[in-house]
Amino acid sequence: MICDFASSERSVTFSGKKRVTLVKQLSRFERPKLKTHFLALPPEDVYLRFGLAQNSAAIIDYVEHIDFERDAVFGVYGDKLELIGVAHLAPQGEGAELGISVLRGQRGRGVGTAIFSRAIEHARNLNLNNIFVHFLAENLVIRRLVRKLGLISVMRGSDSAASMALPPGNAGTVWNEWVDDCIALYDYSLKSQVELLKTQTRPRKPHSLLYPSNDVKLSAELADSNSSP
Ligand SMILES: CC(C)(COP(=O)(O)OP(=O)(O)OC[C@H]1O[C@@H](n2cnc3c(N)ncnc32)[C@H](O)[C@@H]1OP(=O)(O)O)[C@@H](O)C(=O)NCCC(=O)NCCS
Repeated sequence: MICDFASSERSVTFSGKKRVTLVKQLSRFERPKLKTHFLALPPEDVYLRFGLAQNSAAIIDYVEHIDFERDAVFGVYGDKLELIGVAHLAPQGEGAELGISVLRGQRGRGVGTAIFSRAIEHARNLNLNNIFVHFLAENLVIRRLVRKLGLISVMRGSDSAASMALPPGNAGTVWNEWVDDCIALYDYSLKSQVELLKTQTRPRKPHSLLYPSNDVKLSAELADSNSSP
């Protein structure tokens, strides 16, 4: 989808065209999609995302325990309705911590920047004072991303943290977020309909193969009725 109306942080250039990454706020009903996203990350990325190695059971447990009433989770959906990027914003005191991940193969296209920017906007609208992210010192990509968005990084041995003081939200940021939500929801429903159409237009097996026993019964009944006087 190519549109031109988003703020500059959310637009990326693809072969001369401006492209907007639509970020949707996720609900608890999207937990299965979240599990699929995190389980698709290779162990190295899980390590970078959570700061420690996590097995599948721990990842599923993490997703099960996300409190959607308190926290905000944002996602970018691909054309097949897979979550290609996810950010989890967890308010803590007057600030909020952000964790972010983008699937390999979808990186370097601005997805991370778009989700992070959306999380900043949301945090401002919640009147939170600051946003911060913890990451491993070796994680050069996130360091570059946070620097680009204006966060200040501090190194602490093998760990790093970056934070930024947030100006309060205003009518403009609230409006922007509302519009972003509506467009992302519209995009999601379009993608859902395309996926539904695909399943409906897929060639089906002949009836007799789907319900052999019924067909056999029916032919037997027909044979009976034809032979009866
Ligand atoms: C960090 C992460 C979310 C970035 O996602 P992304 O979609 O690639 O981010 P963007 O495309 O918006 O790129 C952000 C910046 O990083 C740069 N970048 C992306 N991939 C890079 C790479 N492999 N090497 C160097 N820089 C890279 C981009 O060029 C961009 O900077 P620029 O705009 O100045 O060019 C993703 O790499 C990831 O999921 N990593 C594993 C989990 C993780 O480390 N999470 C952070 C701790 S919570």
